[in-house]
Amino acid sequence: MKWCRVLDNVEALFNPRSIAVIGASRKPGKIGHDLLKNIIEYGYKGKIYPINPKADEILGYKAYPSIKDVPEDVDVAIIVVPAQYVLDVARECGEKGVKVLVVITSGFGEVGNVEAEEKLLEIGKKYGMRILGPNIFGYVYTPARLNATFGPRDVLEGPIAFITQSGALGIALMGWTIMEEIGLSSIISTGNMIDLDVIDLSKYLAEDQYTRVITIYLEGLKEGSGRRFIEEMREITKKKPVIVIKAGRSERGRLAVASHTGSLAGSDKLYDAAFKQAGVIRAYNIEEMFDWARALATQPVPRGEKTIIITNGGGVGVLATDSSEEYGVPLINPSETLKQKLRETMPWFGSPKNPVDLTGQAGVDNYVKALETAFESDEVDNIVLLYCRTTVLDPRDLAKAVVKIYDKYREAGKPLVAGFVGGLDTLEAIKILNKNNIPTYPSPERAVSSLSKIIEYRRYLARQKIID
Ligand code: ACO
Repeated sequence: MKWCRVLDNVEALFNPRSIAVIGASRKPGKIGHDLLKNIIEYGYKGKIYPINPKADEILGYKAYPSIKDVPEDVDVAIIVVPAQYVLDVARECGEKGVKVLVVITSGFGEVGNVEAEEKLLEIGKKYGMRILGPNIFGYVYTPARLNATFGPRDVLEGPIAFITQSGALGIALMGWTIMEEIGLSSIISTGNMIDLDVIDLSKYLAEDQYTRVITIYLEGLKEGSGRRFIEEMREITKKKPVIVIKAGRSERGRLAVASHTGSLAGSDKLYDAAFKQAGVIRAYNIEEMFDWARALATQPVPRGEKTIIITNGGGVGVLATDSSEEYGVPLINPSETLKQKLRETMPWFGSPKNPVDLTGQAGVDNYVKALETAFESDEVDNIVLLYCRTTVLDPRDLAKAVVKIYDKYREAGKPLVAGFVGGLDTLEAIKILNKNNIPTYPSPERAVSSLSKIIEYRRYLARQKIID
């Protein structure tokens, strides 16, 4: 019974019918003001209750002196009052029947104030409230148009969930994903994780229809939760890929973690082993985490590993070939029949071997025919498409043609990743392709590295007997 209630409460965090902001400030530029503004302006459709004893109205919404004065039920209370008031406010929330507390306030375990943190958790348990935080920037869930953060407002909708133990990095990455046009289902700041942790949140997101990949910036797990992490994550990764960046790998990094979120960075070898056992994909920097997430979120799990590279430039083809070996992407040796078909897609001086070189003279037609041949061939499971800027082929024209071909062969279940190298118009082409769910990168290596994670995830699912 209690377990059911707890699950309902996590659901309430993501899809609340009503939200109170306790400490909603009248003054622009203060966290309690800007967070309320984000909730309103990003388009949340539920009820919004600012709580502030000194205000009658904030940003056009009626304000209440205490949560207990709100005439209706409140699902989520976001606490933005200074640390010394948090426990009283939390108790009032419990009495009101709030389901989840989102505690933005700093000044708890991360600065040694462990006692207050324990008391806060006790209050949560007493009233059956789940707690996110404290010491967080809030959270975003785009399907509910909910941006309860004091970060950038216009987060793009998409299939990637991002859970972050670092607040400042999380806020920075909110802006970065907007700039990179990466669509997110959610961004959740976990801070000190006194209750809801990366495991609880991943468990929810594993069942969330809007999330296809879970990404996590992790500094450390709570003491004693290593076994739970492995067991729960092992189940989650069977449903969706999970990519983790684990910070605090170095000795100095570990010390920095301790003073940041108060977590135990632990031995990196232990974490590494735990990730392997749990089927978690480990990334070593932010760029590769989102590169891989883009590919895993948009591409199907392939039937096999056999890969072909199609290019108009020998150099990028060779670089992609080297990367394939480095990342464990098996390249096919096309049969004579396939080579013959490929020859028909290129000038006489091209190469039908792998990498398939359409030459610098290649136009849209050459690419379209080569792609069709690859999609139709039983010898090919995965395609890496490369392009170097030439005057004979505008990258935006190529991008539009590739989108059409990709749509035509969507049912083939073959991942397509692309590396487009060039200038500003090439960047435009990359954006067109990404917008149409074809993961495209400004270098051949990043395309191959991303495909390698799709293949790695395929191998994992096969080992788990989820697929053949
Ligand atoms: N109930 C309701 N409202 C109250 C209460 C109460 N019991 N007590 C005070 N308020 C009101 C205040 O009157 C004020 O509103 P006003 O500006 O209209 O007068 C508002 O709540 C805020 O209270 P302040 O005392 O002004 O607090 P302030 O905004 O300065 O700080 C905060 C509160 C933001 C929670 C601060 O204590 C804090 O923890 N800051 C750090 C937050 C943070 O960085 N979190 C981690 C994020 S991750 C990262 O690193 C980016």
